[in-house]
Parts: sequence; C-alpha cells; structure tokens
Amino acid sequence: MTLPIPPFEYLERYRNEGTRTYSSHAAYTEAESAYRPDSPRERFELPLFEFPRDQMLVYTANPPAELAGRYLADNKVMFAIHPQVLKSCQQDGYVQRTLELSKRCKTMSVAPSSSTRTLYALEQPPLHAVKVHFPFKISRYGRRMRHEVLEQAINVSRELEAGIGLLDEHFAFLREVIAVCHPDLDPGSPRGEHWGYLVRDMQPFPIGEANARLIPGFALYGRDFFDSGIPLLLHDLIGRADPLTFVLDNIMLPIVRHWVACFRHFGYLMEPHGQNVIFEVDPAGKFSRIIHRDLSVGIDVRRRRDIGLSNRRLNRYNLMDQDRFHSIVYDRFMGGHFFDRLVQACLENHDGLSREDFTGPCREEFARAFPEHREYFPRTVWYFSEERDEFNKPLYQDTGAAPEWRP
Ligand SMILES: Nc1ncnc2c1ncn2[C@@H]1O[C@H](COP(=O)(O)OP(=O)(O)OP(=O)(O)O)[C@@H](O)[C@H]1O
Ligand SMILES: [Mg+2]
Repeated sequence: MTLPIPPFEYLERYRNEGTRTYSSHAAYTEAESAYRPDSPRERFELPLFEFPRDQMLVYTANPPAELAGRYLADNKVMFAIHPQVLKSCQQDGYVQRTLELSKRCKTMSVAPSSSTRTLYALEQPPLHAVKVHFPFKISRYGRRMRHEVLEQAINVSRELEAGIGLLDEHFAFLREVIAVCHPDLDPGSPRGEHWGYLVRDMQPFPIGEANARLIPGFALYGRDFFDSGIPLLLHDLIGRADPLTFVLDNIMLPIVRHWVACFRHFGYLMEPHGQNVIFEVDPAGKFSRIIHRDLSVGIDVRRRRDIGLSNRRLNRYNLMDQDRFHSIVYDRFMGGHFFDRLVQACLENHDGLSREDFTGPCREEFARAFPEHREYFPRTVWYFSEERDEFNKPLYQDTGAAPEWRP
C-alpha cells in the first residue's frame, strides 16, 4: 500500500502547527511574515553578491563539484545575505563591506525551511540549502552565523563524513560543505562577530534510495496549517501496527543509539529535536534511516580526550568540559520537546499505553549502549534559565528533576 505522504517541502513549511509549545519562547519570531516558513508566499529572492575569493574567508568539506562551481568558481565567491538583514541592518559593518566591495549582485529563488533562516535553493540543482545570518530572534536565540560557528560546522561535517563507518546503517546526515565569511573588521572584540553563510548539501550522506520520502520529525505530530482536521501523520503511518513497537523501533530507539554513538565516537552533543531529524521512509511507509541535520553541536572535550581524538582541526566554538548541556539536549530537546509529543500522540489514539512504556525501553537502550554515561552526564535534568551572559546567550540551570529518558 502506498501512503499519501505530502512532499517534504510541504511538510517543512505547513505541517508544523501546534508543535512550538515546549517553552515560553518557542513560538516567538522576529522574521517578517513574507520570510516565515508558514507564509503563503511560495518563494522570495535571496541576494547573492560576487567577491574576489581573496577578500573572503572560505571553508569547505568535500563539496560536490556542482556546488563548488556555483558558489566558488574562478577565484570568485558568492555571498548570500537575507533580504531582511539587507533592509534592516544597514549600519552593520559587514552589510556595508558587502555593498562597498562587491561589484555584482544577482538573486536566487529560495523557500524558507522550518528553521526560517535556512533557505532551500529552488531550481538550482543539485538539491541544497543555504543557512544565512539572521540576527533577529526566533524562539530563544538571535540567529547569527558568526565566523567560528561557520568554521566549526564545516569541521564537524568533515569529521563526521570521514567517520561515517562508526555509525550504524540507519544513520545519515546533511553535510555542511561550504562556508563563506567576512574577515574580522574588529579584531579587538572579545568574540569575533564577523559573519557569513553556509551551504548545506540536501542529498543525505550516505546517499539513500532515490524514491525515498522524507518526513521532518515535527511533521509526525504537527497539525496542518491549512486544515487542522487532517489526521496526524504519525497515526497514518502507524496504521494497524502496534503503536508502541512502531514508535520505539522506528523512531525513539534509533535516535537514542545515534545520540550515544555520536557522543562516544566524536564527543558530539547532537540535538535531535523534532526540527533536526528527518525520517527517510520508503513508498510503502517503511522507515529506513534517520537523517540528522544541523551540525552546530556542542563538543565534549572530556570525551575526546578519553578516546584520544585530536582537536587540532576544531576551533574553540562550543567546546565543552562540563556536563550540563548534555542534559539540555538529551533530556529536554530530544526527550521533552520531541519524544513527549510522540507519546502524547500515541496515548491520545490508543488505550492501554502509558508513558513508562516508552521511557523504560529508552532508558535501557541508553544504559546498554552507553555504559560510561555516569562519567559524562549530570544526575538531574538541566535547562535554560532566563538569565543571559554578556553575549546574550542563556545561562543553564539545574531543574532538580530526575531524568526520564535515561537512568
Ligand atoms: N517543531 C519544532 N521543534 C523545534 N524547533 C522548531 C520546530 N519548528 C520550527 N522550529 C524552529 O527551528 C529552529 C530550531 O533551532 P536549531 O538551532 O535546531 O536550527 P537552526 O540552527 O536555526 O537551523 P537548521 O536546523 O536549519 O540548521 C528554531 O528557529 C525553531 O523555532
Ligand atoms: Mg535545527
């Protein structure tokens, strides 16, 4: 039987209603309506400025030749600026540098992804997206693309690609293959504020089946923007299967295993909330792989030291020698923001199930796959506090709660 799964581009934009309830900030956005994923406007034009390559900082992680050709050809680089930034940040030194130094500008048609600031390139094969600087607040954070963030995403993409053999056959990810950034105009500043954008290859790595369907995690439990009465995709996909087995085997346990494997082999703190995972499903609705996106992850230097992994090819961004953020991403982003909603959707539709039916096997899987977890995780659940540091980043606080999705 073939299930009527809407196209990925549709799910990304319009099957995400009612999902951003996990914190008081989650539904907040300063993006102008035309640039939001749920805008009815199909596309907008993204300005691309041409520069001589030696005027920009460029980082790459094995880009496909067609993408390198499009963004880095002939000793030139293309530089993308979100139109809202171009319009509203005219005092920004890097907007000014762009307008002063670039002699040529063209535009490219794009559509916003679920994260707003990552933009799909339309009719510009191969399939790819650009993740652009967007210093406006969406949810809890302003969405900058500072130099160290860009460079680190490329470093992580390269390292994960080289180490893909350490992960199981159900793991795939979206590579971040090119980053272009302005040089630092203010080297005295406490933190480099120069910014740029990156190119994300939308062909999953390793390459999957050509006829696979892709479903963003949130679209399993999100309502449709145009018709709130459409049944949840999760319920359709479960069909007559046993809901507990279906959700554990296809969704939760593989994500727990991937989280643990990325941590154990690389020290990465993946953030598998509903927006950062994509399910690859065959035309009959059978789940094959989980595609992870967004490589701006925390990196535990304690774990890397313990397994003898060098940090020589990393910069300082997001290197961590404490355990708190581990709980934020695992207990809250994955457990609270994502898994809790799947449980809720199952309990709504099926009698005789309890929350512990889901948390129990995940706790066991975590302990089995990650025997050393007590060395790296706090005993309690941590989350963001409402206080901010000097760079306006939220501080962390101990909630005191006992974890549910790990022992
Ligand atoms: N259901 C959802 N759950 C979590 N985040 C969501 C959801 N829907 C939309 N979002 C948005 O996606 C973004 C999640 O933040 P995150 O840091 O993972 O992504 P990003 O770095 O902005 O982009 P990308 O995932 O494209 O790399 C936020 O802007 C958030 O508002
Ligand atoms: Mg994301």
